[in-house]
Amino acid sequence: MRRILVTGALGQIGSELVPVLRDRYGADRVVASDVRMHASATADDGPFEYVDCVHIRQIAEVVRRYEVGTIYHLAALLSAVAEAKPRVAWDVNMGGLYRVLEVAREYGCAVFLPSSIGAFGPSTPREGTPQDTIQRPTTMYGITKVSAELLCDYYAQRFGLDTRGLRLPGLISHVAPPGGGTTDYAVEIFHHALRYGHYACFLRADTRLDMMYMPDAIRAMIELMNADPQRLVHRNAFNLTAESFTPARLAEEIGRHIEGFTIDYEVDPLRQAIADSWPDSIDDRAAREEWGWQPEWDLAAMTRDMLDHLRGRLKAQH
Ligand SMILES: NC(=O)c1ccc[n+]([C@@H]2O[C@H](COP(=O)([O-])OP(=O)(O)OC[C@H]3O[C@@H](n4cnc5c(N)ncnc54)[C@H](O)[C@@H]3O)[C@@H](O)[C@H]2O)c1
Repeated sequence: MRRILVTGALGQIGSELVPVLRDRYGADRVVASDVRMHASATADDGPFEYVDCVHIRQIAEVVRRYEVGTIYHLAALLSAVAEAKPRVAWDVNMGGLYRVLEVAREYGCAVFLPSSIGAFGPSTPREGTPQDTIQRPTTMYGITKVSAELLCDYYAQRFGLDTRGLRLPGLISHVAPPGGGTTDYAVEIFHHALRYGHYACFLRADTRLDMMYMPDAIRAMIELMNADPQRLVHRNAFNLTAESFTPARLAEEIGRHIEGFTIDYEVDPLRQAIADSWPDSIDDRAAREEWGWQPEWDLAAMTRDMLDHLRGRLKAQH
């Protein structure tokens, strides 16, 4: 088996994807890479390389030297950051992907690309958003995600590249902090609940969005990359969800475990506008039918597990 390269590996997803891939395929078979160089478990447990995805030579050199056969391309600017820096977001999200695809074409690599519920827009049906539907996003993040889906389709059809992707919902995790997305509230709320017993949420109480616990998302990525290609009709952008809930519903669930927990709302107009342009709940039947997707974590189980992990960490710090 040729090696696996993960770009943007020190981010929220990469910090959990890399250890799972290393457990499964062997530490030396998985090369983590990022533009950040700080010491972390991800970097220590196996090969780590500095790779800036807007520089094609850096990608190509690592792919050649490690004989990479699969690239999980995670490097990107997230929704709120992309809105603040649209030019950089275009350069990194599109320029990075284009260069990764070119290197993959030259060296015959498979490519995984995470798309997002941000690839939809205000004219998309909000409830039960179909797999194939209107995609006219109004954010720079969303525009780069739709373009990325199309570019991956193009490389698959035109050059026979094995590109695969998921439209991920908001991800909740306790290992690495989120990188500036619109659903970051759903991670912050746990930290604030444990430390202060209170959270000031930057989205309105009734903002319903699709969400998923990180272990489900990591398993989905690996299952998709191992799926029988003959069955994949929507190979580059499968709708994927576990549950769809509001900040108020999440706060209620946390309140079952932390007595006296309170929430209020200090709405950030920029992130609220992004959230308002996204679907309330997406339909992931294509993923279930084409490669057997099945979420394992619901809101109650995820909340319990998040609090257990974060409590353990807080105790260890004191
Ligand atoms: N986290 C979520 O909720 C979520 C949801 C849907 C889709 N996604 C997508 O998943 C991917 C990874 O998300 P994440 O949450 O881990 O993001 P993150 O912001 O936590 O991590 C991204 C990583 O990319 C790195 N990076 C930035 N510019 C780079 C460059 N030019 N070259 C190489 N690395 C660079 C950053 O240093 C960072 O470590 C992104 O494409 C994102 O759009 C994330």
